[in-house]
Amino acid sequence: MLDLHQKYFQLLKLTRKYIEQETGTRIPLPKIRRQGEEGSRKGTLETIENTIQGCKKCRLSQYRKNIVLGTGNTDAPLMIIGEAPGEQEDIQGQPFVGAAGQLLTKMLAAIHIERENVYITNVVKCRPENNREPHHDEIEACNPYLIAQIKVINPKIILCLGNFATKTMLGKTEGINILRGKIFDYQGIKLLPTYHPAALLYHPALKRDAWIDMQLLQKEIEEENGVRNMSD
Ligand code: URA
Ligand code: SF4
Repeated sequence: MLDLHQKYFQLLKLTRKYIEQETGTRIPLPKIRRQGEEGSRKGTLETIENTIQGCKKCRLSQYRKNIVLGTGNTDAPLMIIGEAPGEQEDIQGQPFVGAAGQLLTKMLAAIHIERENVYITNVVKCRPENNREPHHDEIEACNPYLIAQIKVINPKIILCLGNFATKTMLGKTEGINILRGKIFDYQGIKLLPTYHPAALLYHPALKRDAWIDMQLLQKEIEEENGVRNMSD
């Protein structure tokens, strides 16, 4: 059966490539709907939003302008976890809207994923002053919100951007250069670590490996789409 699935994905891929070449337009991956769950998912996220309002569980509450909980498609099979809001994110109350965010949008577009079709959040929801790294106790204080988000979104795949997201999710000590590009299991959810787009801005030489990771992500998502479409 797996063989048949793989053939089906290959055919889908080739067909998409052919149409894209012929028409010169990108075909975004289809949106995935999960029947009967949409309303309840939005409702539960609102509960998290209400709970986090005014949160003062850690010192990051002192500097923030806005709490940046997350954005995107709550029915998405893909959830992306970054590190912490930066200056623009703090001002706008949205994750990944600054320079790193623009690169993230491009990385997703390169594998035919529209940013609106994924759910994006961070390990900590408030901006550390001067963009310093979040401290261990701050990550721990904020972790229940992240865990709650994962439970609600219940993605098929989590993309972890950089060391902090990866270490928080996997509890491993190895760095991102060791852990990237491999699929791990997080409570039945596939988890793929890759470089943080901010690291790619500073070290463009890392882009080559990041591209390999994005292609792996694309393959995983296509398989997920295929399995769902086949079972329709
Ligand atoms: N970097 C992150 O890790 N998260 C953001 O939201 C923006 C930049
Ligand atoms: Fe609360 Fe998280 Fe902000 Fe700390 S970072 S104040 S735990 S929302």
